[in-house]
Amino acid sequence: MNNLLLNISCQDDKLKENTLKELSKVCSQCKACDLSKTRTSVVFADGNPNAKIMLIGEAPGADEDASGKPFVGRAGQLLNTFLIEAGIDRNKDIYICNTVKCRPPQNRVPSNEEKQACRAYLIGQISIIKPKIILLCGATAANSFIEEDFKISQIRGKWLNIFENIDTMAIFHPSYLLRNHSLEQGSPRWLMKRDLENVKARLSVL
Ligand code: URA
Repeated sequence: MNNLLLNISCQDDKLKENTLKELSKVCSQCKACDLSKTRTSVVFADGNPNAKIMLIGEAPGADEDASGKPFVGRAGQLLNTFLIEAGIDRNKDIYICNTVKCRPPQNRVPSNEEKQACRAYLIGQISIIKPKIILLCGATAANSFIEEDFKISQIRGKWLNIFENIDTMAIFHPSYLLRNHSLEQGSPRWLMKRDLENVKARLSVL
């Protein structure tokens, strides 16, 4: 499936919509890993499939599992606040998904095996959406694509060369920001604001 989807060229909006629907349908019945045994919903994605930005988070939490939509809980609400502040419209400018589509029990970090089992869906989404910008939101999303050891605080905010023709940036995960309230210069929230302003500036010239 991985290769097939990577080779799909979706010039046509209808074809894109149908291909995405088909992928979502396959994903909704997925039993490739044990997360399928404990999930309520498969959380495929939210937002605009024609958006230039794709944001990849870690995994659904309890609210996402219950609603079937990514980033709708407390972390999602904080993310929304940062997006609004940067002038990025969540419904229009972004397509949002996660490295794994099912909630890990107790919100633990998904294992490498679980990420691997879900990878074809993520690669499929990237191939179909063809974003101009990818935001790797948090260390789990970032280490799905960066092999070397890194600290998120060191790599965030830089434009990374990971995908051909897609400007990629790692940003802090909003769950981390929920535990760090300071707005002082240099604080995680201050850096998040600046990173998203950079993304907005890049978006406006694409
Ligand atoms: N955290 C994530 O990484 N993704 C979600 O969808 C919700 C919280």
